[in-house]
Amino acid sequence: MSTAANSVTERVSHAPVLDVQAVREDFPGLNVKVRGKPLIYLDNAATSQKPQAVLDALRRFYTEECSNVHRGVHTLSERATEDYEGARNKVRGLLNARQNREIIFLRGTTEGINLVAQSYGRTRLKADDEVLITAMEHHSNIVPWQILCQQTGAVLRVVPINDDGELLLDEFEKLLNSRTRLVAVTHVSNALGTINPVRQIIERARKWNARVVVDGAQATPHLRVDVQELDCDFYAFSGHKVYGPTGIGVLYGKSELLEAMPPYQGGGDMILSVTFEKTIYNEIPHKFEAGTPNIAGAIGLGAAIDYVSAIGFARIAAFEHQLLAYATDALRQIPGLRIIGTAKQKAAVISFVLNGVHPHDIGTILDGEGIAVRTGHHCAQPVMQRFGVPATTRASFGLYNTREEVDALRAGLQKVAEIFGT
Ligand SMILES: Cc1ncc(COP(=O)(O)O)c(C=O)c1O
Repeated sequence: MSTAANSVTERVSHAPVLDVQAVREDFPGLNVKVRGKPLIYLDNAATSQKPQAVLDALRRFYTEECSNVHRGVHTLSERATEDYEGARNKVRGLLNARQNREIIFLRGTTEGINLVAQSYGRTRLKADDEVLITAMEHHSNIVPWQILCQQTGAVLRVVPINDDGELLLDEFEKLLNSRTRLVAVTHVSNALGTINPVRQIIERARKWNARVVVDGAQATPHLRVDVQELDCDFYAFSGHKVYGPTGIGVLYGKSELLEAMPPYQGGGDMILSVTFEKTIYNEIPHKFEAGTPNIAGAIGLGAAIDYVSAIGFARIAAFEHQLLAYATDALRQIPGLRIIGTAKQKAAVISFVLNGVHPHDIGTILDGEGIAVRTGHHCAQPVMQRFGVPATTRASFGLYNTREEVDALRAGLQKVAEIFGT
C-alpha cells in the first residue's frame, strides 16, 4: 500500500463511522467524467472501482518483482512467491479459514463453482441423486449444476422464493431428503439484494449429510464472512467485486474434501512428479492451480483485502445499510417505480422497474447524466421470470457512494418519468 493510501486508510479506520469523502480520495476511477459530467458509479454489483493501494500493488509487481512463482531460486521469483502466498494468507484471514491450503486461487466465482461441480460432483454423484439450488441464483450457480446433472443423471431441484425475494425455508426443508447430495446457494442475491440465512441453510442440509457450496460473489464486498462459523463446505468469490483486480477469485474448501478430490485441470505446478506412466499430484491447494496463476491478480486482491479490512466490515455494513435505506426511500418517491426485491435482510442493491419504460432506455438516459447503472436480466433470468419482468434496472452501491449520488439518481429517474410520462 502506498504511503498516501496508507494515511487515508488510517484516517478512515480511526473514525467511528466510515468517512466516505476520505474513502473516495482513494479511488482514482471515481474522478472520471462521463459525457462531461462527474461519474456516479452505481454498478458495483457488476464490478467495483479499485483503490490506489490495489493499483500500486499491481504496478509494484510488474515493475519490481515480475517473475513466475514456485519455480525459481532467483530473488525475484522468491519475492513473487512470497507475495503470492502472502496474498493467500490474507484471503484465509478474510474468510477465517483454518489453513492457507484451503484457499485456491482461480479466475472467479464462476470457475470456483465449476471446479466443485466437476471435481467433487462428477466423481461422487450418480443417477437420481439431487442437487438443490434456489430460485434466486446467478447463472453461474445454475448452469454448472445442470451440466453436472446431464453428466451424472442427478436431478436439479429448486427452492422457491416469496414475493419479497426471500427464500422459503420451509420449502427448502421439504425438498431436502436422503438423495440430496449438494446444496448450492448464494449468500447475497445480485438481482434482488436478499441476504440469505446461510447458517440456517447449512444446519438443515447437515441433517441429510448434504454438502453445501456458497456463492459469495455479492457477500464478500459487504459482509464479514466466517467460513468456520458458517460451516460451509465450499465458498467461492471474485476479487473484482471486492475492490480487487479482475481475473482473480477464490474457492475455499474444507481441507479433507479438497484432499480427496481429483484435480480439475492438469498442467505445471499441480504435480509432484510426472512420467509417461504415472503422475503424482501436488498437495492442496497447488493440486488445483494448474499452470501459471494470476500472480499480479492475487497480490492485488491481497491489497484490496488489506484495504477493506483496515476500514472494517462493521463500518462498511453500517454505512451501506444507511445508504440503502436512504436510496430505497428516495426511489419509492418516483411515480410508477416498483422495487423488485424487498427482503428484510438486504445488501446495498436496488433492482426496479418503472411503468412501461424499458430498462435500457432508463440506463441510456441515466448514462447521459453520468450515472452508471446496470440494466438487463443480471445473469439471473429465472429471477426475472419469477417476478414476471423481462429485465430490471439495478443500482448497486459500494463503500464510496454518497447520498448526493442517490439524489442525482432520483433526479435522473424523475427526468426519465417525465420523458416517458409514467
Ligand atoms: C451472485 C453472483 N454469483 C456469481 C457471479 C459470477 O462472478 P464472476 O463473473 O466474477 O465469476 C456473480 C457476478 O455478477 C454474481 O453476482
